[in-house]
Amino acid sequence: SLASTAAIDEFLGCLSADIPSRLIQTPATPSYSALLLSTARNLRYILPDTSKPLGIIAATEHAHVQTTVRCGRRHGVRVRVRSGGHDYEGLSYASVHLHKHNEPFAVLDLAALRAIHVDPARAEAWVESGATLGELYYAVGSASCSLGFPAGSCPTVGIGGHLSGGGFGSLARKYGLSADNVLDALVVDADGRLMNRSTMGEDLFWAIRGGGGESFGVVLSWKVRLVPVPETVTVFSIIRSRNQSAIELITKWQEMAPASPQDLYLRVLVLNQQANFQALFLGRCGDLHRLMQYRFPELGMTEQNCQEVSWVQSTVFFGFSATSIPLKQLLNRSSNPRYYLKVKSDHVQEPISRDVWESIWTAWLEKPEAALLMLDPYGGLMSSISPSETPFPHRQGNLYQLQYYSVWYENGTAAAEKRMSWVRGLYKEMEPYVSNNPRAVYVNYRDLDLGTNELDGNVTSYDKARVSWGHKYFKGNFKRLAAVKTMVDPHDFFRNEQSIPPLPAAA
Ligand code: FDA
Repeated sequence: SLASTAAIDEFLGCLSADIPSRLIQTPATPSYSALLLSTARNLRYILPDTSKPLGIIAATEHAHVQTTVRCGRRHGVRVRVRSGGHDYEGLSYASVHLHKHNEPFAVLDLAALRAIHVDPARAEAWVESGATLGELYYAVGSASCSLGFPAGSCPTVGIGGHLSGGGFGSLARKYGLSADNVLDALVVDADGRLMNRSTMGEDLFWAIRGGGGESFGVVLSWKVRLVPVPETVTVFSIIRSRNQSAIELITKWQEMAPASPQDLYLRVLVLNQQANFQALFLGRCGDLHRLMQYRFPELGMTEQNCQEVSWVQSTVFFGFSATSIPLKQLLNRSSNPRYYLKVKSDHVQEPISRDVWESIWTAWLEKPEAALLMLDPYGGLMSSISPSETPFPHRQGNLYQLQYYSVWYENGTAAAEKRMSWVRGLYKEMEPYVSNNPRAVYVNYRDLDLGTNELDGNVTSYDKARVSWGHKYFKGNFKRLAAVKTMVDPHDFFRNEQSIPPLPAAA
């Protein structure tokens, strides 16, 4: 049911009983826009015609989160949760869907809930959702030179959304996803109750480790397992153009990288008609060189390509494409400029032939509006974790993830249409070469083109969600996610364009 103007006033009044007014911004208060934009990443979702939140609550205490959820429930105001604001489709601060239904919403901003406590002796840490990956890497690196944490490459990504959806990065082949290394969590449920692993139970604890953000409650904080890394690791970046055999190298990479020893992570970024092979090796340069000579001599890697660094410095390399940048840059929350963004992605299960790569290169990559292609290898430990261990189902049988990642800065619909139709066009063309039934997608690479939720009475339709996006993100885990949703949020308070629906009564 829609919240009326009176209900919105009551909601704001309800908040102000427990939350200081300086932490609550509305369109009428001076800091509203600055706070809304503070971590909004995707310019596509802050255009003037995007629906804006009726209020933003910048929580500084766990109790503020509980109050916001309780007041939202009581007065019929939905709450969008934002940690790092990196959602590809802006779901943490904008709403296409609620706009369609004319439903007002508030944003619960967790950016200030960012405490990190590292316990190097136990190889564990507690990290709050509003911290960034860069802050966690920095804290782990400061506490120990032989511990790391498996997570993604961009330092400004938020812990809250990242761990909720999985968390894939340069240590995944050795240690799995971030979500595979979560030991406990603090969650506020749809009734505003604060729970930990033992009080929430194993079903909800399973769902929050990869089932996607927003659907089940607000995760305040995570206890994670830190993983052993050598004090010195090696990185390299080797760039090859088409006439330096880039296409042959990518063709071979498809089988070589996923089958490599777990200590090697070798990804490819294809941009401006060049393939950039970027590696992290959990060992010294000499051993990496021997490994590359044996498994991938065609790349022509030499010891001069190596940079031996600490693990935490390797996160700087993957975040900023250079090791020379100071570690402190990991703490810079505005290191990444804001841009227009559209991403689609696939899973590749059979190597794509050289001929196909040739034709993609000529027909697509040579266009001026071409996006970045990112090829991220699976294999290693990722293949030995059962697809139902966490909601993230993309395990054995996948060679690599393929992202079509388009970034642009020009304003206006013409630029947007050109970029988006490039991404959508190549995605369509790739259909015969990628996973099918379903054409699988990783939920943290959110794509609203897959379909958006529709209501069935007062709750999200299960059948529509399953067919449009549910099966693609979660395969056989979708039904269990819906069963957990039915248990913890049967009224579907936490919802967005692609939130998990409750199970229909008959399912
Ligand atoms: P944001 O705050 O936008 O939240 C994302 C979703 O989770 C929203 O639906 C939100 O409501 C919900 N949510 C957020 N906090 C929550 C909480 N505390 N409790 C419950 N729900 C919550 N991924 C990857 O695996 N590896 C990578 O290397 C990268 N790299 C990367 C680079 C860049 C530049 C971008 C923009 C994105 C990535 N990603 C990625 C994808 C990233 O993992 C994904 O967008 C995360 O959901 C972002 O988490 P944030 O907290 O920043 O997002």
